[in-house]
Amino acid sequence: MNRAPRQGTGVPPEPAMPTEPATAREPSVPPEVATGVDPSEEPVHWDLGASQSYAEYLRLDRLLSAQELLSTEHDEMLFIIVHQVSELWMRLMLHELHGVIECVQRDDLDPSFKMFDRIGRVQAQLLAVWDVLSSMTPADYSSFRNLLGRASGFQSLQYRLLEFTLGNRHARYIDVHPAGSTAHIALSRALQAPSLYDEVLRLLSQRGYGVPAAVLGRDLSQPYTPSKQVTAAWLGVYHNADEDWDLYELAERLVDLDHRFQLWRFQHMKTVERIIGYKPGTGGTAGVSYLAKALRLRLFPELWELRTSM
Ligand code: HEM
Repeated sequence: MNRAPRQGTGVPPEPAMPTEPATAREPSVPPEVATGVDPSEEPVHWDLGASQSYAEYLRLDRLLSAQELLSTEHDEMLFIIVHQVSELWMRLMLHELHGVIECVQRDDLDPSFKMFDRIGRVQAQLLAVWDVLSSMTPADYSSFRNLLGRASGFQSLQYRLLEFTLGNRHARYIDVHPAGSTAHIALSRALQAPSLYDEVLRLLSQRGYGVPAAVLGRDLSQPYTPSKQVTAAWLGVYHNADEDWDLYELAERLVDLDHRFQLWRFQHMKTVERIIGYKPGTGGTAGVSYLAKALRLRLFPELWELRTSM
């Protein structure tokens, strides 16, 4: 529509608004909007007495002095914080996963669903860091990359613990940590312990679904081999959802977790491709092509397999 002012139409011009004094034209602040909060109106504990403070409880002196930049490059701070934040979220994820495993072990799944819910939200935070990191250009990163030496996420103890706990395990990964180190010992222990999926399959069997003895008694230190009988057992759960709703819900929670893990791997790979292209990684792998291999990984393979059969 033509909104140009009409001219020569015979319509009289609108009367000019009467001019107001300058002060009257100042916008007034609505009463509910504050421009500052005066804490002196609150009964604040200005003196903490013998109590610990916020910073002491959270060990903020340690947390906030752990960003030791090796260069004077502006983006190194981002790089360090994004890794540290990811490690903190992984820490919480591991904590929740151990809670889930305990619930599965005692066949008490309801409380585990609250933990699964939290794990999903933590995974959303882990995914969100890629968005922040992608604001770093290849030039920004190459300005300090050589200072990293051989340091790489490949050596992340918590990431490997997560994978081992979820069932994706390979003994060789432990060797990147010196024999006898805390990391080496923790990973060797995790390699021998049943994974979340091992515990879930044990529960499935206890509830009368046919999980082969060879699967239940498998060598835990070896990568899991998918089984057609396990797919059939899960299909039984899905067809019997009314009877065993908690097992059905558990299955879908596992699929959710696996799905989000795959998204993390994909986003990591695409961020790496965007920032270093096809250069080898500081950890010694070929880089993007190594990360791309993990995109085929399925933590709970039969839960994906059964979808084709439904
Ligand atoms: C500029 C950013 C990043 C680049 C260029 C990068 C690059 C790489 C590369 C090339 C690898 C393969 C191993 C190697 O040879 O080094 C790798 C592995 C890894 N990175 Fe990153 N990464 C970045 C950010 C992150 C962040 C923010 C995290 C979060 C903790 C992370 C965690 C990991 C983990 C856990 C692995 C091992 C993956 C596996 O073995 O499956 N990376 N990274």
